[in-house]
Amino acid sequence: MRALLTAGGHGTRLRPITHTRNKHLIPIANKPMLVYGLEAIAGTDIEDVGIVVGDTEEEIRATVGDGSAWGLRVEYLRQEAPLGLAHVLMTGRDFVGGEPFLMYLGDNMLRDGLPEFVHAFEEHRPDAQILLAKVPDPSRYGVVVMEGGRVVHLAEKPVAFVSDLALAGFYLFTEPVFDGAASLRPSGRGEFEITEAIQYLVDHGYSVRAERIMGWWKDTGRVEDLLEANRFVLDEQEHDVQGDVDAASHLVGEVRVDRGAVVRESVIRGPAAIAAGCRIERSVIDPYTSVYLNTTITGSELGNSIVMDDSRIEDVMRIRDSLIGRNVHLRRGDAAPSAVQLMVGDNCAITLP
Ligand code: DAU
Repeated sequence: MRALLTAGGHGTRLRPITHTRNKHLIPIANKPMLVYGLEAIAGTDIEDVGIVVGDTEEEIRATVGDGSAWGLRVEYLRQEAPLGLAHVLMTGRDFVGGEPFLMYLGDNMLRDGLPEFVHAFEEHRPDAQILLAKVPDPSRYGVVVMEGGRVVHLAEKPVAFVSDLALAGFYLFTEPVFDGAASLRPSGRGEFEITEAIQYLVDHGYSVRAERIMGWWKDTGRVEDLLEANRFVLDEQEHDVQGDVDAASHLVGEVRVDRGAVVRESVIRGPAAIAAGCRIERSVIDPYTSVYLNTTITGSELGNSIVMDDSRIEDVMRIRDSLIGRNVHLRRGDAAPSAVQLMVGDNCAITLP
């Protein structure tokens, strides 16, 4: 069995960050999001992965390479334009070569359960298998209506309530799904919808099995989702200090300081993660914060935030619930506000206020 892993699309909901970076490379607990997908796939028997890319192909290649770091063989499949997930399927058709395959949406994170999902498919051999979770906000997802354990109807981001069982971004398909995908016209939002390709299977008498998600799953479409995914991963990390922390600093709880990071006269309350090359000085890092490579934080306080690489934060108090891009310079002006919530794109310099 092979896998298709998506890493294209527009990323419009995460602008301005996605103006300059593919969203799949945003670090979650100091690891690019797409790497979680590669690790999950490597945890099954699958060895060949086709990563579907768009015009940001080069940065994905630079991060993933040939996939050997995860024991995988990776090929890059260029999607001519982000025309929808059924179009992604068609882009991967030759790569999967007539065998059953896994389709994994690279902006989804699943704590565990992928091996079981694949095993259940191998045991029952349906024509397709989907993974469902009950959600409070079904209009954000593709949803499924079930009757007596059977999938009867699917709808993509329904405005009116249809069902609260959302399709998570993990699918197992066989050859007939390509007939479904090939039969589609663009939807109201102009995309070839994967939900319609699955509806085709249901309508043509193919067997579509549904499994339920155990553990956590996150579609990282919005900033709040990224911060939540960051919290989920940090919650499971253990105290691990390889970096240089002075005696005047205080680390509380599950804190990770990677080799090559320096902490001086600071308090870090876990769960929190500080990557290599960072310098944290006279600062307070509160829980659920991850600071990615080569960032310097001085005289500042932040919590529940993701700070990306090569940034500098100076004398800014109470940064909360924020996503701060690469190569950002934040500093305090004369009358800075007492707390700030920020979403800052790459290469910005901001003096507050
Ligand atoms: O996350 C689960 C949801 O994913 C499902 O419930 C929906 O049924 C499904 O349509 C999808 O909805 P999204 O609106 O969240 O999909 P999004 O546009 O974010 O794209 C999902 C992934 O596929 C992401 O990794 C980007 C990539 N992509 C997307 C499109 C439209 C491509 O590589 N090419 C594309 O053309």
